[in-house]
Amino acid sequence: METNIANPKSEALDPKSQILNPVFHDPKHHIKIYQGDCLEILAAIPADCVDLIFADPPYFLSNDGITCHAGRMVSVNKGEWDRSRGPDANHEFNRAWLAACQRVLKPHGTIWVSGTAHIIHSVGFAMQQLGFKLLNDISWVKPNPPPNLSCRYFTHATETIIWAAKSRKSRHTFNYKLMKELAGGKQMKSVWQIPAPERDEKRFGKHPTQKPVKLLERILLAASNEGDLVLDPFMGSGTTAIVALRLRRMALAIDRESQWVQLTLTRVARELICVTMTGVSFQSSLDLRTSFVDRSGEQAHRKQMTLSARLVHRECKYFFVGTDEREVVYSVAAPSLEEAWKLFESSPKSGCSIISIIKTETEIYLAQ
Ligand SMILES: C[S@@+](CC[C@H](N)C(=O)[O-])C[C@H]1O[C@@H](n2cnc3c(N)ncnc32)[C@H](O)[C@@H]1O
Repeated sequence: METNIANPKSEALDPKSQILNPVFHDPKHHIKIYQGDCLEILAAIPADCVDLIFADPPYFLSNDGITCHAGRMVSVNKGEWDRSRGPDANHEFNRAWLAACQRVLKPHGTIWVSGTAHIIHSVGFAMQQLGFKLLNDISWVKPNPPPNLSCRYFTHATETIIWAAKSRKSRHTFNYKLMKELAGGKQMKSVWQIPAPERDEKRFGKHPTQKPVKLLERILLAASNEGDLVLDPFMGSGTTAIVALRLRRMALAIDRESQWVQLTLTRVARELICVTMTGVSFQSSLDLRTSFVDRSGEQAHRKQMTLSARLVHRECKYFFVGTDEREVVYSVAAPSLEEAWKLFESSPKSGCSIISIIKTETEIYLAQ
């Protein structure tokens, strides 16, 4: 069984049209995912339209050093996108994307930027230069940080998240009561203890700087409301888009690396589509005499069959789910996805825009 969010014919796959065309757009849930440089894509977004931005920019810490991961010594390098270009160029980059974010924020909108000491001071300074209103700096405390292998520093156990409003005149959203409730009836402090992403959050792939869902949940609940537009210019594994979807915010997220766009699409697909398959067999000679035995819970039954079994029937079916009409608009039995797509294209439903294709496979084995 597999699920694809894909439209092989989509213009979004044309590199020349990538800036204006998202690689994924779900109009029902208002999610847009873009692949490309965030500076170019932000420039194409209208001014004053975003309620909340979460940005987790490159930390510029990939300097060939070492760190500890899962008890092993590993390189700190995250990827070319994280390599330092020198303090001046790094600061210029921070200023440029912060200015682009400031332009698209609504007058009362806010931005949250996470980072380590490598960049967070440059981010804070750039915000002051650009006239943002600094609201808080959150210390995100990681309960189980990796040990410091050199034993010449304290273990790095925190990241800073700066929260700022678009301008000094902004009257920002803060869901004070909800935060107080979440803090057990006391005012919530600016020190947040939140564990690293859970195993399940990494089941479709690992991003080296993936943020926990719980962190983004806290941020979106604190400073946005249902229906608000949330933007992430450095989405990585798509954590912000996933949380926005769950909390019924609209989301727009950008990354320039296809590897991370793919990971985000896989995570988003699993939020949007759930396939459950049940096989039930009623055996006339046994079940019909007594009462029907529903064997739908026996998914692993074939593996347990002690007698040798013969495959007597195999069928692959493809279900095409519409983008606008959120229904199965077409279904067909076919030996491959390509074949199913060809049949779809020659069907009366070929004009429908497709958000996903679900494949189901049925195999019936009979004991010999
Ligand atoms: C620190 S990671 C973000 C991780 C993310 N918060 C998560 O939860 O997975 C930064 C991401 O920014 C992307 N990136 C770097 N420079 C970029 C640029 N100029 N435009 C768009 N994306 C960029 C990288 O590919 C990387 O995935």
